[in-house]
Amino acid sequence: MTIIDGKKVSAQVKEQVAVETKELISKGITPGLAVILVGEDPASRVYVNNKKKACELVGFKSEEFNLPETTSQDELLSLVEKLNNRRDINGILCQLPLPEGLDENAVIEAISPLKDVDAFHKQNVGRIMIGDYDFLPCTPAGIMEMLHAYNISVDGKKCVVIGRSNIVGKPMGMLLLHENGTVTICHSHTKNLKEITSDADILVAAVGKPKFVTADMVKNGAVVIDVGMDRDENGKLCGDVDFENVKDKCSYITPVPGGVGPMTVAVLMKNTLKAARLQNGLK
Ligand code: GUN
Repeated sequence: MTIIDGKKVSAQVKEQVAVETKELISKGITPGLAVILVGEDPASRVYVNNKKKACELVGFKSEEFNLPETTSQDELLSLVEKLNNRRDINGILCQLPLPEGLDENAVIEAISPLKDVDAFHKQNVGRIMIGDYDFLPCTPAGIMEMLHAYNISVDGKKCVVIGRSNIVGKPMGMLLLHENGTVTICHSHTKNLKEITSDADILVAAVGKPKFVTADMVKNGAVVIDVGMDRDENGKLCGDVDFENVKDKCSYITPVPGGVGPMTVAVLMKNTLKAARLQNGLK
């Protein structure tokens, strides 16, 4: 059993981004990322801090817009519009979820598809579906990079994704399909979930429920990827997978923390670098 080291792979990806950023800066272009955080959700605060730290590490300029929970839809959309028009901002990210009363879809659609480094805009989502894209969504793409780093092939494998969100589950299924996996997406209405997951060569858990995937749901020798960032009964950070009991059945497994999370940030850096290149007429 190998524990996949997301921190290490993420550091390698960021190192490569840093090298390419240096070259870009020497041409007079410094990639800029705007990060919008509305309200003070503690988990979102941590994610945003990690994203800002990564920007600093790779040599980007980052600007945080921390808006109060009481921000109106119009105020948020007018900030996005301003950022769409700023030449020094190449990527715009609005941390989700937004406080109740704000329309996430409207915000996602307001971000210019050229600056949509999360790849959430329907134009970018559509391009991913047909395999002709500039940006990939950070978490699923980070998982693919982790699989590549460990030479884990998806081709012909039975891949099961638990969760069908627009951010993770749905695009994850598509990226696995692009690499010739046989993909099943499970969700809250799925019948005989255990039967399906127990057949998976590659199992991706993106449910948002602590220790949801138990040992009886996992095939011997499976690759298990844990997207969860949950709290257990003692308030301790854990994933969607019951790591202690599942790990010995796996060929590979990602830990929480130190698995998928760092990879998400690494892909965000790649996307922002690419956005800066494209907006400056470079390939
Ligand atoms: N909330 C959870 N994951 C993400 C992500 O990848 N991007 C943004 N903007 N919000 C998130």
